[in-house]
Amino acid sequence: MTDAYSQADLYCAAFSYPVDDDVDWALGECERQLGRRPTSVLEPMCGNARYGKAFVERGIDYLGFDLSKDMLKRAEPHEGVMTTCADARSFDFPGRSFDIGWCPINSIRHIDTPEGLVQHLQCMAKHLPEDGLYLVETDLNHFDGRLDRSDAIEWLTPQPDGTTVKAVWGTDRADLATRRAWEFARFERLRGEECLESLDCEYAMLMTTANDWHEWAAASGFTVDQVAKRIDGGRELVALTSDLEDHHEGITLFLRRSNMK
Ligand SMILES: C[S@@+](CC[C@H](N)C(=O)[O-])C[C@H]1O[C@@H](n2cnc3c(N)ncnc32)[C@H](O)[C@@H]1O
Repeated sequence: MTDAYSQADLYCAAFSYPVDDDVDWALGECERQLGRRPTSVLEPMCGNARYGKAFVERGIDYLGFDLSKDMLKRAEPHEGVMTTCADARSFDFPGRSFDIGWCPINSIRHIDTPEGLVQHLQCMAKHLPEDGLYLVETDLNHFDGRLDRSDAIEWLTPQPDGTTVKAVWGTDRADLATRRAWEFARFERLRGEECLESLDCEYAMLMTTANDWHEWAAASGFTVDQVAKRIDGGRELVALTSDLEDHHEGITLFLRRSNMK
């Protein structure tokens, strides 16, 4: 077993679907909440910075960072897309402030302890203005024990060379007391019925409940007044409550900077 980020070609291919709609939605919602159009974004755990181009094309300054040089070196060069290597639990970009932070697709759960997550949020708070917003997309779960592997999600991403990359992702087991979940992923490159290459991975990730986010936000200079939940044809804004747990859907948290006491 390996992690997907050290053999990143298949991983990056599986996530090479269009992201323009997500970026348009995020910018529109931030503009509505901030009362002004954001002009800069910081993306922690950016991987190959696949969102960078979409932000820059909309006139937004973009800085993404990641701990994995294997992922960063797969970032497509694009004017204005800046990336660097840093740890999400301890980064510091002196003098830099960003209107918004953006952390999609459960990346946040790679910070695998609650303490590490609070350290991350404290670092983020230092790089956002007083009213800044940090958008974090994550599943919310309250699992404990062994889970049904057949509940895994699956998607297909067509590739420019005519192959298709199939990804399967699920949770194997969880320990609610330590907020740890063990997840598995399988990637396959297919040409028709033939599997040309495959990769199996297992990860320990942080598991987060709705209430955890209220606590961790308060401990790090944020509040979470609302979250966006995917619905048919879009997203709706709702309060962050335990009703959102265990539904297999990405919730986008709007963490708003608040004054620390
Ligand atoms: C699920 S990938 C997502 C990448 C990107 N956000 C995207 O949407 O394609 C998670 C990324 O988090 C990075 N990562 C994990 N732990 C990290 C840490 N402590 N600091 C910085 N990056 C980290 C991994 O190297 C990986 O590239």
